[in-house]
Amino acid sequence: MLLVSALTMAAPATAQAPAPDSPAIEAQAHALLAKLTLEEKIELLGGVDGMFTRPAPSISLPRFKMSDASVGVRTWGPSTAYAGGVALAATWDKDFARRLGEALGRDAHARSVHFLLGPGVNIARSPVSGRNFEYLSEDPFLNAELAVPYIEGIQSQGVIATVKHFALNDQEYNRHNADSEADERTMREIYLPAFEAAVTKAHVDAVMDSYNLINGQHATQNNFLNLKLLKGEWGFQGILMSDWDATYDGVAAANNGLDLEMPNARFLNAATLTPAVKSGLVKESTIDDKVLRLLRTELRYGFTSRPQFDPADSTYSVAGRAVALEGARESLTLLKNEGHILPLDPARIKTIAIIGPSAYPAVTGGGGSSTVQAFEPVSILTGIANLLGPDAHVLYSRGLPDMPDVFQKTRWEGGVSVATYPSRDFTGTPETAAEEGITKWSPEWWGPADKAPRSIRYSAAFKAGKAGKYLLLAASAGNDSYKVIVDGRTLPNAVNVEGQTPQFWTLDLTAGQTVKVVVEYLPGFAGIHFGLGLAFEADMISAEAREFAAKADAVVVAAGFSNTSEAEGADRTFALPWGQEALIQAVTAVNPRTIVALTGGGAVDTRAWLDQVPALLHAWYPGQEGGTAVAEVLFGKHNPEGKLPVSFDRSWEESSSAAYYYPVKGADTSLHVTEYGKPPVDYVIPHVRYGDKLLVGYRYWTTTGKHPLFPFGFGLSYTTFSFANLQAPATAASGATVPVSFDVTNTGGVAGAEVAQLYVSDLSTKVSRPERELKGFEKVRLAPGETKRVTLNLDARAFSYWNEAAHKWTIDPGKFVLRVGDSSESTPLSAELTLK
Ligand code: BGC
Repeated sequence: MLLVSALTMAAPATAQAPAPDSPAIEAQAHALLAKLTLEEKIELLGGVDGMFTRPAPSISLPRFKMSDASVGVRTWGPSTAYAGGVALAATWDKDFARRLGEALGRDAHARSVHFLLGPGVNIARSPVSGRNFEYLSEDPFLNAELAVPYIEGIQSQGVIATVKHFALNDQEYNRHNADSEADERTMREIYLPAFEAAVTKAHVDAVMDSYNLINGQHATQNNFLNLKLLKGEWGFQGILMSDWDATYDGVAAANNGLDLEMPNARFLNAATLTPAVKSGLVKESTIDDKVLRLLRTELRYGFTSRPQFDPADSTYSVAGRAVALEGARESLTLLKNEGHILPLDPARIKTIAIIGPSAYPAVTGGGGSSTVQAFEPVSILTGIANLLGPDAHVLYSRGLPDMPDVFQKTRWEGGVSVATYPSRDFTGTPETAAEEGITKWSPEWWGPADKAPRSIRYSAAFKAGKAGKYLLLAASAGNDSYKVIVDGRTLPNAVNVEGQTPQFWTLDLTAGQTVKVVVEYLPGFAGIHFGLGLAFEADMISAEAREFAAKADAVVVAAGFSNTSEAEGADRTFALPWGQEALIQAVTAVNPRTIVALTGGGAVDTRAWLDQVPALLHAWYPGQEGGTAVAEVLFGKHNPEGKLPVSFDRSWEESSSAAYYYPVKGADTSLHVTEYGKPPVDYVIPHVRYGDKLLVGYRYWTTTGKHPLFPFGFGLSYTTFSFANLQAPATAASGATVPVSFDVTNTGGVAGAEVAQLYVSDLSTKVSRPERELKGFEKVRLAPGETKRVTLNLDARAFSYWNEAAHKWTIDPGKFVLRVGDSSESTPLSAELTLK
C-alpha cells in the first residue's frame, strides 16, 4: 500500500543538515568579509534573476537559488504538488508536517534549490483573505506546532526554510499599501507566536518580511518587528529578506533589519547605500552584519563547498507522491453526513454523475507564486472513476461554461465603444474604437508594469431576452483596477479592485429591459487583460449536467475555488465563484443524493444549498493526489480525519473580523494602479484596524457564546470516539509544566483517527481574555474498540497573556479550566486547576 511505503521509505542518504554556528564558521565568514570592498558587500544585499542571491566572484561565492514552497517546490518545471498550507493544518498532524517538510526539502535539493520560501504562517483572520490557502489556520498555537516540525523537516535536508510573511499580512487587498494597525498584545498573542516558534524552536534560517505596513512602517523597515523582536528578543541569527518588491526605502530598510532585498536591489544598492555609509547615515558595521548573516548561513549549510544537487536525488519521486497522497487523505474534512449517506457503497452505485468546475481537471492549489506545475495530478473525476473500475458508469459534466465563453457569448446591443484616454484619470482626448465584446481577459497575475498612462472606458448596452436573474461577470489581471457602473450606479465591491479574481453580481431583469453598462478600467500591466459578460443564469447550467444528475444513483458536485478564483494578490469572495450556487441548486433539484466536495482555502457561503445536500466534504486544495483521496473517502476506503483549522462561518458579515477587515469606508474610493513598490502619488493609505483584537475565529465564537456553522476543530468520521479519565493536578506552581492525561477510545466499527484538543480557560485573569484557547492537541489513530492514553504537557506560555502594563508574559495565579474534546465547542472532559 502506498501509504505504508511513505511511512517506511527512508529518505535518500544525501540529506545534509546544517552545521551549528561555530568559531570555525565564524572565522571563515569574517575572513571572506574582509576580502570584500564596501561596494562588493553592498552588491550582496540584493537578489538577481528573480530567484537568486548575488554571487561575489572575488571570493568565489556562487549565487544561490530560491523557490516557493507553500504546496510544492515551484521552481522551473514540474514538481510534486502536496496538500500544503491550510490542508496541512486540517491534518492537525505534527509528524506529517515533518514528513512534508522533508519531502519538500528533498524536492528542493533535486532541483538545486538552496532556499525554500515557506512556510507561510500568517493567521486566517478572515475567510476572504486571498492567501489563506497558503497559510495554516486561525490559531497561533496550531500554526506554531505545525510550522516547527515542517521547518525542521525542510532544513534537515540541507535546504534553508523561509518563514513568511512577517508580519500581519492577513489580507491581500491592497497588500503593498495597507497598514495593519494592531496593539502589541494582539500581535504577541495572535499574529506573532508562529514566527516566534519558527525562530526560537525550529531555528529557521531565513525570514521574509511582508509587503504591508505594520503600525505605520513597512515590514521591511519595521524597527519593532525586525530589530526589537526578531533579531533582539528572539535572537534570530539568519537572513531577513524582503518579499518580492516589498522594499520601499534603502536607508530605512538597511537601518531597520533587512538583510536581503528580493528579487533585486532597487533600494539596497550602491547608489543609495555607498553615500549613506560615507555620510554616516548607515554604519558600515550594519552592512557587515548583513553580509555576515548571509555568509555564515551559507557556510553552515555547506553551500560553498558542495553542489546542492546530489547524484542520489530524484526529480520525480515516488516517495514524494506517497507523501502527497498521505496529506490529501489526512486533510479531507467531512462536515455533513446526513442519514449516513457516506460512505457510498461501490457495489450499489451503478451510475455516478460527477459535476462541477472542480471535478476536472484536478484543482491542486490556489493561484499566484505558490502554483506548482504538478506531476500527473489526479482529478476528483479520475480518482472516482479509477476507484470504481471498468464496470462503473461515470458521467461527467462541467455544468458551467468557462469564463471566456461568458465574455464571448454576450451580445451587446450595437457593440461596445472603447475610449482609451492618454491619462490615468479619463482626461484628455481619447482614442475611440468599436468592438464586439469585452473579451480580452487572460489569466495573468504578474507581468511588466503598464508604463503608458492609460485609462479605458467601455460603454455598452445589454437587452435582456427573458425575465429573470442574470450573471454579470468581470475579470482582470494582476494589478489592474476597475469599476463597473450599471445604469449609473457603481456596483459594490468593484471599487479599486486589485488583482485577478473574478467579480460577479446578479441583475434581476425583466424581459426586454435594456441596461447600460460602463466600465472604468486602469490596466496595471502592459496590455489589456479585461473581460466582462452577462448571461441568463438558468441557461448557464448545462442541460447535460441536469440530465446526468437525474440519471445517477449518486451525484458528486465538485465546486469551489481554483487558481483563478482564489489567488495571491487579491482577496476572494465568501460566496462560491459565479454560477456555482445555481449549479448545486439545479443538481439537487433533480437528485437529492448529492454530495458536495469543496475546493478552497477556507469557509464559503453555503446558505443557498446546504439544507438540500446530505453530505459536504471540504477538500481544501488537496494537491496532486487529491482525486484519489476524495474517492477513497467517499467510498469508505479511507475514514475521513481532517478537522477544521478555521471556524466555518455562515456569512462573511458574521465572521469575527468583518467589521474591521477592510479599511475605513470612504478612505479611498478612487481607482489606482499600483506599480510594484510604489504607492500611487495621490494615495490614501488604507488603515486596516485590527479592532477584533484577540477575538479571531473560535476565540470570538466561544467568548460571545454564539456559534458558527461548523466550529474550529470539527470534522466527522465514519466511526465514533469517546474521551474519558481526565487526569490533571488540582494545583500547580505558576510557571511549572502541567501534564494533562486522558483516554481516547474508538467506540465505532472502523479504524479511524481523532484529534484530541485541549483548551485552557483562565477564570482568575485580571485582564479580559478569550473564553478558551487551544494549548495542546494530538492526533490519535485507533482500531475499533481500541483505547489510547494521551498526555499533553502545558508549559508556562499555555497559561500566560501578554501583559501590556508590565510588558511581559504574565500568569495571574488562580483558577483555570482545562477542557478536552474534539472541537472548540465540544469538550466533554474538563477539570479545574489552581495555579499558585
Ligand atoms: C510572494 C512571496 C513569494 C515571492 C517569490 C511574492 O509575490 O508574496 O510569497 O515567495 O513572490 O515568488
